[in-house]
Amino acid sequence: MELSTYLHEKKIIVENALKDIASAWHASPAPLRNAMEYMLFSNGKRIRPILAIAVCEAKGKSSDNVLPFACAIEMIHTYSLIHDDLPSIDNDDLRRGKPTCHKVFGEATALLAGDALLTEAFRVMADSRYTERMNPKVIKQIIFEVASAAGAGGMVGGQVMDILFEGKEGTKDILNFIHTHKTTALIRASVRAGAICGGAKVRELKKFTIYGESVGLAFQIKDDLLDAEGDEEKVGKRLRKDVNKQTYVKHYGLIASNIKVEQLTEEAVQAIRFLGENGARLSEVARFIGSRVA
Ligand code: IPE
Ligand code: IPE
Ligand code: MG
Ligand code: MG
Ligand code: MG
Repeated sequence: MELSTYLHEKKIIVENALKDIASAWHASPAPLRNAMEYMLFSNGKRIRPILAIAVCEAKGKSSDNVLPFACAIEMIHTYSLIHDDLPSIDNDDLRRGKPTCHKVFGEATALLAGDALLTEAFRVMADSRYTERMNPKVIKQIIFEVASAAGAGGMVGGQVMDILFEGKEGTKDILNFIHTHKTTALIRASVRAGAICGGAKVRELKKFTIYGESVGLAFQIKDDLLDAEGDEEKVGKRLRKDVNKQTYVKHYGLIASNIKVEQLTEEAVQAIRFLGENGARLSEVARFIGSRVA
């Protein structure tokens, strides 16, 4: 199967599962529900849940078990985008080719829609309706994994440094902190959730972690590159906006940033060599992340 077909198929599986999850919000106030669903179903790439599924499948397991965790991670990612676009953070008016959540629903509702998506993500992971056949120890392990990646020691920590160092000189160490926290952490957790659900042994989990860290950092460097040289029409967000941000392009330049993405992609592919033929899809996904145009 072509990679594009594979990505499309998995996207549909994730979106159907998300729709099922969203059906539980029918009794919530309509403006809140509408704001949550506006962003959750606005044509994201779904790369984090797809990574979780692809890793689980590479271990020869069906994606059923990882699906609720994959959805929870996508919900956390969606909340992070809603908050990232707020006037007090990046002040953006376009996301996935559409007006940002606060532009449509107002700041207060957008803020609360983000809060609700984050909280609902943890309900999904703890709800036996979705995870009933799973070992409770494994569920707890993944909840810990996701919470650590999303919280103060992960994504939120990275976002704070991103904002604090806006317009400042910054250093390569600070840049690395920002990128590994605001973006790599959740991508790494997606890969690890897939590996844990796939029954990876400790030694294998270490290799998958290297894969997740490499594609995760490559993903954000590529995001920096798209801001600098991408096509707004394809990317679906305002570009050339990162001039005051700590980016790879600012600290290393365009050429070195592109080379770094290639190196990280190669490191990701090397890390999963132990899977042999079963790792072919994950290698393709890593290369897709490194060469994406949106
Ligand atoms: C955008 O993430 C935010 C970053 C971490 C760079 P994505 O590029 O995965 O956004 P969607 O979900 O596909 O819109
Ligand atoms: C955002 O990084 C990372 C998040 C945790 C949302 P950016 O601010 O660069 O993401 P975009 O470019 O707005 O998607
Ligand atoms: Mg930001
Ligand atoms: Mg932003
Ligand atoms: Mg960006």
